[in-house]
Amino acid sequence: MNMHAKHSADAETAEEGLAIQAAQAVHDSESATEVAMQNTLLTPRFYTTDFDEMDALNVDPVRADWDALLDQMRADPNRGHFKKTEDWEQIDWDGMEPGLRAEFIDFLISSCTAEFSGCVLYKEMKRRGTNPDICELFKFMSRDEARHAGFINDALREAGISVNLGFLTKAKKYTYFKPKFIYYATYLSEKIGYARYITIFRHLEAHPEYRFHPIFKWFREWCNDEFSHGEAFALLMKANPHLTRGRNVFWIKFFLTAVYSTMWVRDHQRPAFHAALGVDPAWYGQEVFAKTSEISRQIFPITLDIDHPKWQPRLEAMRRANVDLDAARKAGGITGRLRAVWAAARAGRAFVALLTIPALRNEVPASVRLEPAY
Ligand SMILES: [Fe+2]
Ligand SMILES: [Fe+2]
Repeated sequence: MNMHAKHSADAETAEEGLAIQAAQAVHDSESATEVAMQNTLLTPRFYTTDFDEMDALNVDPVRADWDALLDQMRADPNRGHFKKTEDWEQIDWDGMEPGLRAEFIDFLISSCTAEFSGCVLYKEMKRRGTNPDICELFKFMSRDEARHAGFINDALREAGISVNLGFLTKAKKYTYFKPKFIYYATYLSEKIGYARYITIFRHLEAHPEYRFHPIFKWFREWCNDEFSHGEAFALLMKANPHLTRGRNVFWIKFFLTAVYSTMWVRDHQRPAFHAALGVDPAWYGQEVFAKTSEISRQIFPITLDIDHPKWQPRLEAMRRANVDLDAARKAGGITGRLRAVWAAARAGRAFVALLTIPALRNEVPASVRLEPAY
């Protein structure tokens, strides 16, 4: 590559960032793209929605906070950050223990897919919208997600693999969500993304001997981007209070439960990765849930009771059902299919059991805005 070519970290729009990645994509591996193509309940999905309804959102009720947040995004403090520097140590991918290598690559591919999923959704909103507030916000957020996805792809490329982002945009299946479900799901995924990245960053700051890959050094600025994306969705919900009232409180509980339990199941599928980081996935899960719950009190009238005696046992029941479901699918045949139906039913029952744990009421503050505090 030309030494003076622009890097996706410096791109000012999502389109520019993706074009730079596409130019580098000549060696993209089919297997990584295949992993990213998978559509199961647990892997990151691509979303589409009613863009006209989202475009009609009015942010006037939160104008002062909105303008301050958008000023910060416009100033773009992380421009140029998401690229390798002299702090990036070369990794001996071939020397890495094979179990760890497989799990770490899986982690990078699914993180890249999740970043890119946000990028595609936000970029589409920007493209279709006419409301200047909405279009500007989604322009900045898609710009950030394109840089994040591009940076993970840079890391993967060193291992001889990478995700073909252009192909994914065209070929991956899109799931339709009503706008209000997009607000709950993306608000939560931005905030839990912040909590996940900052928890790992702080842990490795205290225990640098566990930092087996340089990408973790970039996590602080990274999670600050996710934090401000979450702030934007909190303001959108604050400006439209019906979204967090009445029957919608049930949907908030549903999304909290879905996002937390999915994270629990997914993280426990990567024991070697967490052992290499010196992190117990159960501790990590509870820590991330606690931070996310504390943050989400800015806008959600409830939090989940993650210290309830039934909380962890029911998460575990869901995890075991998912392990059995995977095994049954791999086994195949008629017995495999029957076992899969039974395991899916058990996973569903565990999810409903989690939903029946009473939530904790929360008095939402008059002002939403928070700064990253962890
Ligand atoms: Fe991101
Ligand atoms: Fe984000």
